[in-house]
Amino acid sequence: MTYHIVTYGCQMNVHESEKIAAILKEKGYTEEAPIERADIVVFNTCCIRENAENHAFGNIGALKQRKRENKNFLIAVGGCMAQEEGKAELIKEKFPFVDILFGTHNLGELGELIEKKRAQKKRVFSLKEERTETEDGIEPVRTGFPGAFVNIMYGCNNFCSYCIVPYVRGRERSRSAEAIVKEVEGLAQRGFKEITLLGQNVNSYRGEVDFPELLDRVASIEGDFRLRFMTSHPKDFSPALVAVMKKHKKICNLLHLPAQSGSNRILSLMNRHYTREKYLEEIALLKREIPDCEVSTDLIVGFPTETEEDFQETLSLVKEADFSSAFMFIYSPRTGTKAAKMEGQIPEEVAKDRLSRLIEAVNAQTRQKSAKYVGRTAEILCEGFDEKKGMYLGRDEYGRMGYFKSDRDPIGEYVLLHITSANGISLYGEEATNGAV
Ligand code: SAH
Ligand code: SF4
Ligand code: F3S
Repeated sequence: MTYHIVTYGCQMNVHESEKIAAILKEKGYTEEAPIERADIVVFNTCCIRENAENHAFGNIGALKQRKRENKNFLIAVGGCMAQEEGKAELIKEKFPFVDILFGTHNLGELGELIEKKRAQKKRVFSLKEERTETEDGIEPVRTGFPGAFVNIMYGCNNFCSYCIVPYVRGRERSRSAEAIVKEVEGLAQRGFKEITLLGQNVNSYRGEVDFPELLDRVASIEGDFRLRFMTSHPKDFSPALVAVMKKHKKICNLLHLPAQSGSNRILSLMNRHYTREKYLEEIALLKREIPDCEVSTDLIVGFPTETEEDFQETLSLVKEADFSSAFMFIYSPRTGTKAAKMEGQIPEEVAKDRLSRLIEAVNAQTRQKSAKYVGRTAEILCEGFDEKKGMYLGRDEYGRMGYFKSDRDPIGEYVLLHITSANGISLYGEEATNGAV
């Protein structure tokens, strides 16, 4: 029997899909197959913005006919959307052919739910309010070699006024540092070369130690790996974090620090608990201590009441903070959040226009930075082969993608590239020698 998992949303979901794969394998679905042929399809959904939901709805709906033709074919829907208030009911009603519905707190039960469904005709649902345990005992089917994700904390307590995550992921809970260190040791021994510590807000990690201390412990593990972490919140940024980044060569000199907006008025409405000035001070400290460190960010345009002047402040922040790249979004009202009830929602055309101007500004900066690489060398960790380009690819520590040709299979190796050209965030080059960190 075969399976197919459709994953939407953030890296947390990508990693949880690796756990879903492990559960499916245990239940006899031994191989992955294209969606048209799989015996079970699991949708791991996201509800961060409306378009993420629409995508999922469209793709679930497309399976209706197949379900009609083949009663043994199973469809399961899990993830953040399933956990969203009212959405489970909507899915039940709109898609009566969905067999299994499970929330973010119920991932560990998927195996039992499949068995239950096999034994009965009725659909099965499992939606819990809150999970408190932090160890699920599931050994994920790692799909990102040479990269691996490691959860350090779950949930979020911040309640940024636009964001649905705290409602669908529950309150913050941290794994024990001991368990995290053990997991990373195992991955390093198995040859994984890029470990990414995951959490909605990693620097509010509170296990036996705080986040900088945890990072210090993980970076001290023996092995030839790079260390990344995401996402950090500017309100929890600390000099101690910078000191640990500076201390360890293993920790990539890239900080992903979502700013969301450059306007203090909007930041306050967003409930972000920092100002533009504080944000810029943090980056100044970071760059003073680690001059070659780069910063990437998330930005939202069209938040309720955002004026052209507010938007201009976001544009100017892009320059002042010297972002090397950014994820940029149009504000999407999420039912149940504070911002969705605010007056002054921004018309779509205005938001779209701001987004395209912002993308232009960020991309120009990204291109400029990448252009400086031409003629230099970059060390990339080869992670795959791009069929279309006919080239191997991998990232440098700043997250830039490097493409190159090779006669051997260098996946999983560090490769030193002579950069010959750059295009956006991508670099093209020729292999110099086999590098080692
Ligand atoms: N926990 C992380 C990321 C959460 S979601 C953090 O706080 O940084 C990733 C990004 O999606 C956010 O940083 C934000 O920029 C964006 N986002 C979240 N809710 C949104 C909404 N309602 N509309 C548009 N973008 C949103
Ligand atoms: Fe959402 Fe804010 Fe929590 Fe990030 S910190 S997940 S944006 S509420
Ligand atoms: Fe989406 Fe849930 Fe991640 S809402 S962004 S998949 S935490």
